[in-house]
Amino acid sequence: MSLDDLDPTLPLLTASGITKRFGDNEVLRGVNLEVQRGEVVVLIGPSGSGKTTLLRSLNGLEVPDEGTIEIRPDAPIVFDVGVGQSARDALRDRSAMVFQQHNLFPQMTVLQNVVEGPVRVQRVPRAEAEAQARELLERVGLAEKAQARPFELSGGQQQRVGIVRALALRRDLLLFDEPTSALDPELVGEVLKVIAELAAQGWTMVIVTHELAFARQAADRVVFLDGGVIVEEGTPEQIFTRPTQERTRKFLDRILRPLD
Ligand SMILES: Nc1ncnc2c1ncn2[C@@H]1O[C@H](COP(=O)(O)OP(=O)(O)OP(=O)(O)O)[C@@H](O)[C@H]1O
Ligand SMILES: [Mg+2]
Repeated sequence: MSLDDLDPTLPLLTASGITKRFGDNEVLRGVNLEVQRGEVVVLIGPSGSGKTTLLRSLNGLEVPDEGTIEIRPDAPIVFDVGVGQSARDALRDRSAMVFQQHNLFPQMTVLQNVVEGPVRVQRVPRAEAEAQARELLERVGLAEKAQARPFELSGGQQQRVGIVRALALRRDLLLFDEPTSALDPELVGEVLKVIAELAAQGWTMVIVTHELAFARQAADRVVFLDGGVIVEEGTPEQIFTRPTQERTRKFLDRILRPLD
């Protein structure tokens, strides 16, 4: 760690030249992405463009073939030279991911689901982890569900627990992969509301979503990924109302007018 790394004006995350191949399929082709502390970045792009692969790479679940990921103040991880498990673990410790499906443990209560990571993995004393979990559940309006099992909750409530579980890990970076796409339409709003509140509280987040109204409201920056490269990025206003790239325009047209 150098003195530069303590500079709060430096990005929390700098990913450069991220390339990932699955066999002959080059899924990410030199992605460069910076995220400032407290910034909310919404990542959009067609199916198969590499959004999930990029998030998984940032979280150490996928190992890029080339490129560098730096989450300050940790040292950069350079994938070109090959990395070991310890580098992946170090990366994983810096972010928490919320998936499309929440993957709650069905046999555990809501509270047990939330404290599992802090207690088992991070060795936080149980009483402390539970107090924190209850506070977080309260914040997302689920205080009274602490002793419920996942099957007793609606899909939206389950996904809010999934978010609390990620928050409880107290990581610097939150990664959301289409957090509302598995929900019934009437449940989408309550989950987006929680994510918007986190944005307002200053969490640093990268969110893959096709909820453009939400992106407009919550995102500081929108990044459009297509064919494994970032084609265009800018404020929601820039990207949604005057995109400069034809590919961005076509993609947005398809989302906004799917039946045309
Ligand atoms: N583990 C894997 N093995 C082989 N190919 C994979 C693997 N994971 C992803 N891919 C391929 O990588 C490409 C990008 O997939 P990815 O899941 O990152 O896209 P995406 O932008 O998240 O798409 P969607 O919007 O459908 O979720 C796809 O062609 C996919 O088939
Ligand atoms: Mg995906």
